[in-house]
Amino acid sequence: MKTDLLIVGGDGDLALRKLYPSLYFLVLNNVMPADTQIFGMARTEQSQEEFLAKVKQWMQDNVPDELFSEEKWSNFSSKLTFVQGDATNQASLNEAKNTFATGDQLVVYLAIPPRIFGTVCQTLDDCGLAGKNTRIVVEKPLGESRETFVEINKELTTTFDESQIFRIDHYLGKETVQNLIALRFANDILEPLWNSNHIDHIEITVAETVGVGNRWDFYNDTGATRDMVQNHLLQVLCLTCMEPPAVLDAESVRLEKLKVLNCLRMIEEDEVMDYTVRGQYQEGSVGGKKVPGYTNEDSDKYEVDASSKTETYVAIKAEIDNLRWSGVPIYLRTGKRLSNRYSEIVVKFKQKRHKVFDQNHIEHKANRLVIRLQPDAGIRLRINNKVAGLDAGMPIESGCLDMFFSDEEALKKADAYARLLFDVLRNNQTLFVSAAEAEAAWKWIDQIFAGWKANDWPLSHYPAGSAGPKEADELLSKDGFHWHNIDPSQDD
Ligand code: BG6
Repeated sequence: MKTDLLIVGGDGDLALRKLYPSLYFLVLNNVMPADTQIFGMARTEQSQEEFLAKVKQWMQDNVPDELFSEEKWSNFSSKLTFVQGDATNQASLNEAKNTFATGDQLVVYLAIPPRIFGTVCQTLDDCGLAGKNTRIVVEKPLGESRETFVEINKELTTTFDESQIFRIDHYLGKETVQNLIALRFANDILEPLWNSNHIDHIEITVAETVGVGNRWDFYNDTGATRDMVQNHLLQVLCLTCMEPPAVLDAESVRLEKLKVLNCLRMIEEDEVMDYTVRGQYQEGSVGGKKVPGYTNEDSDKYEVDASSKTETYVAIKAEIDNLRWSGVPIYLRTGKRLSNRYSEIVVKFKQKRHKVFDQNHIEHKANRLVIRLQPDAGIRLRINNKVAGLDAGMPIESGCLDMFFSDEEALKKADAYARLLFDVLRNNQTLFVSAAEAEAAWKWIDQIFAGWKANDWPLSHYPAGSAGPKEADELLSKDGFHWHNIDPSQDD
């Protein structure tokens, strides 16, 4: 079946930085169906040669050197065509469609702002391009609240039905995030332990060292909660906590994730100060380099608002009110300009009180499973062992069983977008977010925002390069816990 992939916004940042390099990986891995053609559409006048030169430059900057060669580029570029046109204008799209819509199926990637999704969908329809064999790909930000998400979604669903809409959350395309499904459901030893009888609490961290850079304007309206928690962190939470799906298809997996989202306990206005921490970075030093605070960022594109109360860090204590998880706190945190870049899930198991071992000789820590998503992806299980030697008692010390996914080369090629584009091309929605999931996630987030608003937008500060605001430590310490150390060399 011949497939045409049309990228609307085909010479924009997303297309150049992410989409073309990922499509290149598909060609490199020989998984791109042979009769797929890629069309980059933009309004700007440019020749095919100029367009290819631009894409090639970005490719060389973004693809690891060892994976780029003239021969591979030439193979890839033979599938890539520039189309000059305006997807919001019927006459323009009608003319352009003679170039790109010649296959059996059409995939349209909307690499454009959501405010014009509706117009583009309508124009596609008016040009006879929105039939059953068309799929549409969109990605965040899909709204800034439940209400605005519903509006954007309505614009899409006026033209397309749910089975034709692919909502990207690039975290679901990460190898290690998908491996959560394998870890949980391909290892039967875990299932009997994976519940409130045995698990004390869970932490999900997505820490970044970068600041907001040239996205200040966008970020200032968005903040860490909408940018990261509503999508990436909640999706990771869903995969960590969902019930086993009946089968591994889109309908079953998405249904189980939705059930988790629907069971998230709403954080009421009068609880928000106890359950959440909003933070903003101040001047500090990251990786030995001095960096400005959020409200002093130097953006040549935007005027920075020095009184901004936008959160660049957020920590939330979530709870899932269902039979499996009732009573197990799940702490979420994410932030920019932290000391290290890493994403991980920490599952802390309960420790029974007993006196088998001499309490004076014990360094007896609870079992803990750390699932490191990025970088240095792997799994670390902390277990307790006898200290070797001739000792009168049986002293216990804690050690770690490590498994690193060391195939760096494979991981490089399995870029998240490559995986997701591969799935769009083969029409598999398992790793895409359903409308119901996105709406349920927004509902939970909206309630937190209502609480913050009622409490006059509480804001803690943290120096860039630190582990976040001290209030986030207190969020756990008042429950008798502490965060897994943000510095991997200080693993406790
Ligand atoms: C994006 C956010 O969705 O994810 C960015 O908009 C963030 O602010 C990025 O930096 C993080 O993604 P990753 O893959 O680098 O962890």
